Amino acid sequence: MNSDRMSLTARRDGPLKGRLRVPGDKSISHRALIFAALAVGETRISGLLEGEDVLNTGKAAADLGASVERHGAGEWRVHGVGVGGFAEPQQTLEFGNSGTGCRLMLGAVAGCAITATFDGDASLRRRPMRRVLEPLERIGARTLAAADGRLPLTLVGAREPIPIVFEAPVPSAQLKSAVLLAGLSAPGETIVVEAEATRDHTEKMLAHFGAEVRIEPYGDLGRRIVLAGQPELEPQPIVVPADPSSAAFPLVAASITPRSEVILEGVMLNPLRSGLLTTLREMGAAIEQLEMRDEGGEAVADLRVCGANLHGVEVPASRAPAMIDEYPILAVAASFAEGTTRMHGLKELRVKESDRLASTAAMLRTNGVEAEIEGDDLIVHGKGRPAGGGLVTTHMDHRIAMAALVMGLGSERPVKIDDASFIATSFPDFAPMMVRLGADFA
Ligand code: S3P
Repeated sequence: MNSDRMSLTARRDGPLKGRLRVPGDKSISHRALIFAALAVGETRISGLLEGEDVLNTGKAAADLGASVERHGAGEWRVHGVGVGGFAEPQQTLEFGNSGTGCRLMLGAVAGCAITATFDGDASLRRRPMRRVLEPLERIGARTLAAADGRLPLTLVGAREPIPIVFEAPVPSAQLKSAVLLAGLSAPGETIVVEAEATRDHTEKMLAHFGAEVRIEPYGDLGRRIVLAGQPELEPQPIVVPADPSSAAFPLVAASITPRSEVILEGVMLNPLRSGLLTTLREMGAAIEQLEMRDEGGEAVADLRVCGANLHGVEVPASRAPAMIDEYPILAVAASFAEGTTRMHGLKELRVKESDRLASTAAMLRTNGVEAEIEGDDLIVHGKGRPAGGGLVTTHMDHRIAMAALVMGLGSERPVKIDDASFIATSFPDFAPMMVRLGADFA
């Protein structure tokens, strides 16, 4: 997939108006399929994100012996094989562009006595896997991989998994989740300590499926997660709320186009995912929360966002885990603000679908925005309205593609991207949904 490059151009064309519901949360969708595959019996999932990344996780779950069936838009049923019950796959597990699918499945497979080969596209093949393989090897898995641990690699799961105490060296929910998923097969307690709390969807889903999991505060910003191994996971219905990381694009698009008014329905407000909302409000964005409610164990609300005059702010490093995927679109908002925005502590952006620190700065500069990288910080000098007129290289990165298109909706001159095809990994209907709000994409 994604073999055909597809350029797309966004241009200014008046305000955005209307309502939309962005697709289901990507992080929860991956986990829904993986946990369902590890439960005994049938799990029903509704609101599943049907983007390429998640579909690849579904295929991998099927290759590992679960039955994975689609019963309508976003409606899926999975018959799981039980913790430790994956069958050896006949073919290479292909994860396409998805670090989450690949790293979480590495964890799930590490606790099974099978051998599986993992691969992905050129972007995923460049991303670090050593960070995940190291704790999985301590649990008892073996890896046959290139010295740098990159894909493709073969994982030999542990025959007798060992429970470990793992202090995460980087704030990464994928890494934490891989260890917890492997820990499901180990006797005794698997403990993950994170110095800075990252998204907690794995912990919540473990509890939802009946595993015993304890979460304790650790230091000022961190958590200690204690999982009792070898539970029988019981199937539970899963309702996937709308993805705040996808909502981020129409949210910023409406904020930067004068006289816009857009309602985004049912957006998840998990505090470990809400850093962008906090930051945009500090910048002066006009965002109202309507109809707060609970969906699938998460607080959600409809967000009403109107065009506003934004100003530059300091974004502390401590906020990075709660908005790690939102920096490209925040950088776009910052380029429409008056004054300087400094985003601190963005080291992890260098190992996303692209080197997002570099690709975000390049996106801004080709469109006439002054931007600098200083150490791990990104500094954007906003002047109200960027010139635009640039051609943005997206580097197989869906979030760079969507951020650049949003920029073109407000900049003086159109913004063109070299390749829109990767948007389908996380938000397949992004372009038609934005066009319905009034965006000019051609
Ligand atoms: C994710 C964790 C984050 C994030 C990714 C989704 C997850 O990655 O960037 O889009 O679902 O666990 P890291 O764990 O590498 O920070």
